[in-house]
Amino acid sequence: MAHFLTYLLLSFLIIYDSLGLSQSNQFCDAGVGYPESTCGFSSSSSSKLLIKGGTVLNAHQQEVADVYVEDGIIVAVKPNIKVDEDVTLLDATGKYVMPGGIDPHTHLAMEFMGTETIDDFFSGQAAALAGGTTMHIDFVIPVNGSLVAGFEAYKKKAKKSCMNYGFHMAITKWDESVSREMEIMVKEKGINSFKFFMAYKGSLMISDELLLQGLERCKSLGALAMVHAENGDAVSEGQKRMIDLGITGPEGHALSRPPVLEGEATARAIRLAKFVNTPLYVVHVMSIDAMEEIARARKSGQKVIGEPVVSGLVLNDSGLWDPDFVTAAKQESSLTIFFSITFYQLYKYIEMLYSIHFRYVMSPPIRESGHDKALQAALSTGVLQLVGTDHCTFNSTQKAFGIDDFRKIPNGVNGIEERMHLVWDTMVESGQISVTDFVRITSTECARIFNIYPRKGAILVGSDADIIIFNPNSSFEISASMHHSRTDTNVYDGRKGKGKVEVTIVGGRVGWQDDELKVVPGSGKYIEMPPFSYLFNGIDKADAKYLSSLQAPVKRYFTAS
Ligand code: URP
Ligand code: ZN
Ligand code: ZN
Repeated sequence: MAHFLTYLLLSFLIIYDSLGLSQSNQFCDAGVGYPESTCGFSSSSSSKLLIKGGTVLNAHQQEVADVYVEDGIIVAVKPNIKVDEDVTLLDATGKYVMPGGIDPHTHLAMEFMGTETIDDFFSGQAAALAGGTTMHIDFVIPVNGSLVAGFEAYKKKAKKSCMNYGFHMAITKWDESVSREMEIMVKEKGINSFKFFMAYKGSLMISDELLLQGLERCKSLGALAMVHAENGDAVSEGQKRMIDLGITGPEGHALSRPPVLEGEATARAIRLAKFVNTPLYVVHVMSIDAMEEIARARKSGQKVIGEPVVSGLVLNDSGLWDPDFVTAAKQESSLTIFFSITFYQLYKYIEMLYSIHFRYVMSPPIRESGHDKALQAALSTGVLQLVGTDHCTFNSTQKAFGIDDFRKIPNGVNGIEERMHLVWDTMVESGQISVTDFVRITSTECARIFNIYPRKGAILVGSDADIIIFNPNSSFEISASMHHSRTDTNVYDGRKGKGKVEVTIVGGRVGWQDDELKVVPGSGKYIEMPPFSYLFNGIDKADAKYLSSLQAPVKRYFTAS
């Protein structure tokens, strides 16, 4: 009966949401008519900027210097720059001036698991700017297997963007036309990476045969192969096992896809990439098992990149196991809606109670305590190279699709706004990495891997002016009611820490200052990424060495006996 009532309430909510009647807690709604009063590049935002007196951070060095920007490009980096009166001054004394963050892994406006992520290319990017990220790379999902159609669809979605963005492309099937379209993507569309899902059986998952063909094709095009590494067949069995045991709650998600399945798939992908002799990028490394496979491969000299995501670095799976709806709900600052009296808010609260634990559901799952610290250590020692978010948000209504079956909970968590602050607090404030390392793992290394360095990822003369001013003596606090994402939950709700992004400059203009967004939809820029990054250096020599080492075919002959 209770379930029946809940279903009734949820149905009402879904209709309510689809009519656009629900509230949104974002600053700038890119839905119906953009409120330009709060969301334009501010009139004071000139194309000439001087950032004075800060400590300029690059991955390779730090120095006290001014930074002068004209028309979106960094023109000078040196002490005591003198300028005319028409230049906007930003005082950075006692603060860090560093490259804007680049998030290598996001899903904005992605159709997935029967719904679409709640953040689109405006709300997701607005959130990013508020958190000091000035570029992200999103995953294009092909339309009916067509990469060209997928690219066109994402181009349309990205029309409302307000910062820099690039694309990876997912490969979900294999035939001659996919192989041909991969070439078009690389040579004409500015895409230099392709993702292969080894999980999500029945939707995005590919076979080993397809993975092998894809790796070969990536190698010939100079494109980076990326893998979502989980054994999808075993996950499917694990899910059946949990359902048979009567485990339908979100803990079933974690139990059905344990670290061993992530480790197995990571090892398999690494070995296949070695067989093909092409570089490999493992996305969202969530477990010690996967990390150790990457460490082993790198030690042997193989070119493997490992990307942990913020959720894997700073969270553990306790949220999936909490037995108490109300205790969990109390962590959510938006619980205050309980005390409101409107009909909608009462329903919303009931829905929130049900889906409160679902917000932590992502794949691979957030692991039990211990994996987080091990991933941090791997990041600080260079076993893992850069940090993404896998920002893939759904609201409570969407998460509640899995109310009676964890397999239906849309997979994904937030992070695009929180990444820079949480990585600083977790890694720099704890003494695990230096401030220059911070720049490397949040920006520079991503720019190098995707072949856009030093245009991006550096404060150098000639680089794009994507810059943040970061105050290490201030503090941040995360809350679902104050964040800029459209979702009504936040897996980091209530977290506080040291350091704060005070100004975000994108393309030479101030996009975030004084806790206010100053951007308009449509002001973003697509960044084309050329093939053959540094990861491909030496691949041809290794191939030649392999061929000459074969000593085959063996020349056979008959000897007279
Ligand atoms: O749970 C996740 N990670 N959702 C996004 C899709 C993916 O696998 O990256
Ligand atoms: Zn994935
Ligand atoms: Zn992802």
